[in-house]
Amino acid sequence: MTGLMDIQFKYDNLLKEIKSLAPFEPETALILGSGLGGFANVVNTIKSIPTADLNGYPESTVQGHKGYIHFAEHNNKKLLIFQGRIHFYEGYKIYECVLPVLIAYKLGCKNLILTNAAGGINQNFNPADLMLITSLNTINIKKEITDLVGLTSLDSKNRSLDFPSQKISNAIKQAALSEKIPLKEGVYYFTKGPSYETPAEIKMMQMTSNDAVGMSTAHEALFGLTLGLQVAAVSCITNMAAGISQVKLSHTEVMETAEVVKEQFEKLIKKTIELL
Ligand code: HPA
Repeated sequence: MTGLMDIQFKYDNLLKEIKSLAPFEPETALILGSGLGGFANVVNTIKSIPTADLNGYPESTVQGHKGYIHFAEHNNKKLLIFQGRIHFYEGYKIYECVLPVLIAYKLGCKNLILTNAAGGINQNFNPADLMLITSLNTINIKKEITDLVGLTSLDSKNRSLDFPSQKISNAIKQAALSEKIPLKEGVYYFTKGPSYETPAEIKMMQMTSNDAVGMSTAHEALFGLTLGLQVAAVSCITNMAAGISQVKLSHTEVMETAEVVKEQFEKLIKKTIELL
């Protein structure tokens, strides 16, 4: 798979199938991070498609990632919600990881809101904080995404500089203010995983001004920008990164903290959609 045309060709049947199942043309797509899938239950769901029913759709294998594509409405806004993500660390290829973004684009979405669970690197952060991503550290995925979309699409138009979408990030900040939800801001450092970081790795990320670390979002954002989507992202700080806290990292802690912050997260995203 070496280009945008190739990925569209590969998924041609799948894209046609989803189009034929779509009850409406969505405007905003959301990808829900680890433990944040419950958002799908707090909006008016019109149609839910299990991704397992879609021929050729990669299967998510991570606990806390149900594979559904929901068509939903909130405040008259038409949403496409991906509950369940395709992670690079599960062994998938980059073109498989960005498939939800391609689907969103093909169904007519203009906005893409990415959410994730992330480890806190910034000492001023605490577990259960929400962070608007102000910049992405994509160094670990540049090669793969450039191979996929072509060098020129990222370079010549400099689309990577359009992140985050001002329109969406303003809505997120406004939503946080009006819902009285404290919102941190910071730089997200992408790692391929699959394991959590060592304290030495976190120290390096900290010294180079990164605020949170995670294993998703960066490539989805770059791919969305290449397609011309407005993209913004919110991290839920589910744990302090390795070496920052004495607590041993585990996926269970990630899921437990996501559960605690769930209500605030849902409020923030709902309000954001109202303001978009
Ligand atoms: N590191 C990487 N990814 C993560 C973390 C972390 O500490 N927490 C949640 N996702």
